[in-house]
Amino acid sequence: MSFLVPKSLIRIKQIIAVTGLFLIFFVVAHLAGNLTFFAGADVFNGYAKKLQNMRPFLNFFEFVLFLIFIFHMYLTVFLIIRKRKVRPVKYSVQKSSAQRSFSSRLMTLTGPIIFIYIVLHLLDYTFSSHEGQATVVNGKSLGLYGLVFNSFSSLRHSLWYIFSMVAVGLHLDHGFQSFFQTFGIYSSKYGGFLKKFSRIFSICITLSYVTIPIYAYFLNHYGNDQVIKVGVLDESKL
Ligand code: HEM
Repeated sequence: MSFLVPKSLIRIKQIIAVTGLFLIFFVVAHLAGNLTFFAGADVFNGYAKKLQNMRPFLNFFEFVLFLIFIFHMYLTVFLIIRKRKVRPVKYSVQKSSAQRSFSSRLMTLTGPIIFIYIVLHLLDYTFSSHEGQATVVNGKSLGLYGLVFNSFSSLRHSLWYIFSMVAVGLHLDHGFQSFFQTFGIYSSKYGGFLKKFSRIFSICITLSYVTIPIYAYFLNHYGNDQVIKVGVLDESKL
């Protein structure tokens, strides 16, 4: 695959930044869909079903997303190895290592955590059956909603999700700043604003995502039948 890698380190950084930006778009769109979880089983399953109905297009989109994800990781590993040989990599605005933020220093840790998270996440929900015992809530089969709801009855699973969402937030925080830096937008004039914007954006993303495992965990353990909007999995309505 090395024939796909440009010679210039700054060009590699630019491709990492652009592929990262596409992944951020996905994370935001996915969050919007996931938040329908709060509206109950019918709405959440209806949303998932609508996506399934777009299948040929969705397959193409998922394939492109997969390629972008792999390319983003491959180039990052490539860059880390090259950086060890050739230093320093020229940013449009250079930063000293003392100025590197917490999220920046954690980049090589949060990246692999997100990779492991996505593999396990796909096994949890995408490549698992959306029918059967795992989807049953209060005696009713609730499809994908039931699967997600029941999975968060486990404290370990919920904490793993919360931990991973924090890793996603930290990765986004630095990723966003790095994007602006790579394209030279991170000047001293806008630097402060862009830094704040990246921080607030990633905190919002993390907090919004973690509401789902927290809500589902507490609903599982402390919710009563009235609070749990179970609905009935009515295929004809989807
Ligand atoms: C509380 C957090 C999350 C929940 C409850 C959640 C839920 C889900 C569910 C239910 C699916 C299966 C959709 C289907 O089969 O129709 C899915 C798929 C997927 N999720 Fe998540 N997700 C979460 C966070 C994330 C994050 C942060 C990422 C990326 C970093 C992510 C990446 C993906 C990918 C790549 C897929 C497969 C593609 C797709 O079906 O759209 N998820 N997620």
